[in-house]
Amino acid sequence: MAYPYRHPSETRVLSERFGDPRARTLEGWREQGGYRALAKALELGPAEVIDTVKSSGLRGRGGAGFPTGVKWSFMPREKSGTHYLLINADESEPGAFKDRELIRWTPHQLLEGALIGAFAIRAEHVYVYIRGEFFEPTQILARAVEEVYEAGIAGADVMGSGVSIDVTLHCGAGAYICGEETALMNSLEGRRGQPRVKPPFPAAVGAFGRPTTVNNVETLCAIPHVVTNGGDWYRQWGTEKSPGTKLFNMSGHLVRRGNFELPLGFNLKELLYDVCGGVPNGRSLKAVIPGGSSVPILSAGEIDIPMHYEGVAEAGSMLGTASVIVMDDSTNIVKQVRRIVDFYAHESCGQCTPCREGTTWLAKIMLRIERGRGTMDDLDTLVQLGKNMIGTTICVLSDSAAAPILSSLEKFRDDYLALIPEAVAAASVADTVAATVQV
Ligand SMILES: Cc1cc2nc3c(=O)[nH]c(=O)nc-3n(C[C@H](O)[C@H](O)[C@H](O)COP(=O)(O)O)c2cc1C
Ligand code: SF4
Repeated sequence: MAYPYRHPSETRVLSERFGDPRARTLEGWREQGGYRALAKALELGPAEVIDTVKSSGLRGRGGAGFPTGVKWSFMPREKSGTHYLLINADESEPGAFKDRELIRWTPHQLLEGALIGAFAIRAEHVYVYIRGEFFEPTQILARAVEEVYEAGIAGADVMGSGVSIDVTLHCGAGAYICGEETALMNSLEGRRGQPRVKPPFPAAVGAFGRPTTVNNVETLCAIPHVVTNGGDWYRQWGTEKSPGTKLFNMSGHLVRRGNFELPLGFNLKELLYDVCGGVPNGRSLKAVIPGGSSVPILSAGEIDIPMHYEGVAEAGSMLGTASVIVMDDSTNIVKQVRRIVDFYAHESCGQCTPCREGTTWLAKIMLRIERGRGTMDDLDTLVQLGKNMIGTTICVLSDSAAAPILSSLEKFRDDYLALIPEAVAAASVADTVAATVQV
């Protein structure tokens, strides 16, 4: 399926060749200078590649936004045994659909970025941990891996440099938690996909007990462009703290949905109304989740903000994966939040009590409220439970489940009250009293 729509505000760097099937082939990728960045990296050497990536200020696109060059520099410089680069292609956050598109259209962009990354951190093995359900992207990527081996771009002697880098595809079984980097490593090793306690951090003890870096697909796709054009070039977009372009995954009640590549810092209101054509069917905007399902919800009055890491944080939410979920005024917020919490309750790996018990109870209470059987005490319990789930667990899945509930209770309390019998009764008594007093 081709991408029919390209908005004039877009700055397509990573998504430039979305919709062009030739970009999937080695030949097609090379037509546009593909693998010249890898050749340049091999000439520059690991230290200079890391410095270039550091100078670009590129921040990891997997959600946390940690600077990629700095992360790479944490890998040991001395070489004693195997290092690994793991590509996190497990994308399963509700609302996120950028990584699978990057793989579907530009598998060589990802492989080139990964081979450069592996060279920079002295890794001789790249694993792509890809979500099992991504059937078509996996097939496309598998063909691209074959092509790079056939062309001598991966394997024993990368482009005649004497450097050896292998690439292996590993299909996950479809668990959201396996996207968390240490759970991913456990799963890759054939163990249960459960997050590990940190420290030790992966750069010291990672996959198979060896120094490891985990990078997101979109992060690695930016690497060939950064290495070819330099850090300053990349910094022409975005801000000092959030440089570059970003794929915004737009879904929900919008005229135009899909992936749009824009400079970081692009205004959210403009993104919704100009780029995505606003809310359809004459309805009005009610709520926006700016960074995937795991971040606090914004109300319609809070969207005049720059979409970069600091801007969204200042507005009380998080940029995350920049997966923007839009809800119009027909939306029952309680029902939507309940569905999100159900997801986290289902995906919790169960190691930590606040997460295992917390997500289960949040889901139960939310369902009770949605079905009209909740009490005012339930609202207090939700807040108390949610607060106890933040910062008390091995990974942030627990925080992710609590964030939408706490923010929705703060901003859309009326939606909850409308479903609680005692609140409805109290409101109607108050209305009657007010009407009587007026008479
Ligand atoms: C529950 C959970 C799920 C995650 N899922 C993904 C994912 O699907 N893809 C991803 O790249 N990062 C995911 N992350 C973030 C990774 O742990 C890790 O930070 C990221 O892959 C690092 O890559 P980056 O530095 O390029 O952003 C997840 C984190 C958590 C806590
Ligand atoms: S927070 Fe939840 S998902 Fe994360 S390790 Fe603990 S139980 Fe597992």
